[in-house]
Amino acid sequence: MTIAPTEYQQRRQALMEKIGQGTAIFRSAPMAVMHNDVEYAYRQDSDFFYLTGFNEPNAVAVFAPHHEEHQFVLFVQPKDPEKEVWTGYHVGVEGAKERYGADEAYPIAELDEKLPQYLQNADRIYYRLGRDRAFNDTILKHWQRLMRTYPKRGVGPIAIQDAGTILHPLRLVKSPAELELMRKAAEISVKAHNHAREFAQPGRYEYEIQAEMEHLFRLHGGNGFAYPSIVASGSNSCILHYIENNRQLQDNDLVLIDAGCSYGYYNADITRTFPANGTFTPEQKTIYEIVLSAQKQAIAQVHPGNPYNQIHDTALRVIVEGLLDLGLLAGDIDEIIKEEKYKPFYMHRTGHWLGLDVHDVGVYQNGEDPQPLQPGNVLTVEPGIYIGPETKPAEEQPEIPDRWRGIGVRIEDDVLVTAQGHEVLTAGVPK
Ligand code: GLY
Ligand code: MN
Ligand code: MN
Repeated sequence: MTIAPTEYQQRRQALMEKIGQGTAIFRSAPMAVMHNDVEYAYRQDSDFFYLTGFNEPNAVAVFAPHHEEHQFVLFVQPKDPEKEVWTGYHVGVEGAKERYGADEAYPIAELDEKLPQYLQNADRIYYRLGRDRAFNDTILKHWQRLMRTYPKRGVGPIAIQDAGTILHPLRLVKSPAELELMRKAAEISVKAHNHAREFAQPGRYEYEIQAEMEHLFRLHGGNGFAYPSIVASGSNSCILHYIENNRQLQDNDLVLIDAGCSYGYYNADITRTFPANGTFTPEQKTIYEIVLSAQKQAIAQVHPGNPYNQIHDTALRVIVEGLLDLGLLAGDIDEIIKEEKYKPFYMHRTGHWLGLDVHDVGVYQNGEDPQPLQPGNVLTVEPGIYIGPETKPAEEQPEIPDRWRGIGVRIEDDVLVTAQGHEVLTAGVPK
């Protein structure tokens, strides 16, 4: 199950239609060091991968629709049999053309020499300044040189525009093939969550549950976890990005698991919260039911044309109403929302786009105008309430009785916007 070469070609075509007389440049992701001379398994930059399917470092992709001969150019690591014995196979210059459809390919060492011909007649450079400062400087250097000769020519790239502004609207709408991969990532993650719930019990360690889940991620063909798995028991459930996962589950603990796998570069992102011993305490149940209601009502807002913000606004209102009913908040609901007095209990947004990146690209708002949901968007819906041991109420808000402390609940599903409404891709894990 992969993305077909023709789909990569369609994506490049869509990009090139948008840039017209411009030239777009994308840089591969760097190798990340684990320690000393050991590197993490390589993962390509998502923009780069979306346009090429090419999974090697030290590469640059150039798109120049106005160029007479080469519209899609790859700069890559050349083949080097001696080095490849150590570091693995390189596609090489010929492979970049034959297997990845580049009109032209060069060894990466020739970038400085070959790049100007693709920039000199462009009216603009599309490039996202990245973490690789040296490469940013390379692009700026070429731009500066071309602008020095601009008066003589009267053509050239007069501006640099962030490449994400043109590419990311494309990534926001998933194709059927992308959705197939996302469904698979969701399906494996659902299996892992269902197993985790059955496996968890007082006495188990958080890391044991993590290990069971990550075993299943890989066993079913996933690339591993989409982000470091969070298995948070007891009051650890109130720490949003808790990843130590080293505590032993106690009777009457809640267990919050936020874990998902990556499959074919696409991600799932699921959170479930359940009682370690199988039965909620009354307080846990009360909080859980508020979050569940918030999540269900927010998911009901997912249909084409609805503004993205409505999902958060809906969940937030249900949460604030619930906390008002419990006396954990006091006052007028609109004022509490406006002045963010709920923030000690609910400090994050209700979701994000999901895709090649877990926190996927794409805008959530267009200035004053909302971003409307479109069929093919995939987003998470993940409200929560967190009442930590140290949580302090907002100014002039009630004290927090001890019986509520240590309760953290989040429920997160991955939701596809369909023509008719929505489909919850992760519905297979009970709530
Ligand atoms: N697991 C990261 C998130 O839910 O956004
Ligand atoms: Mn999420
Ligand atoms: Mn999550």
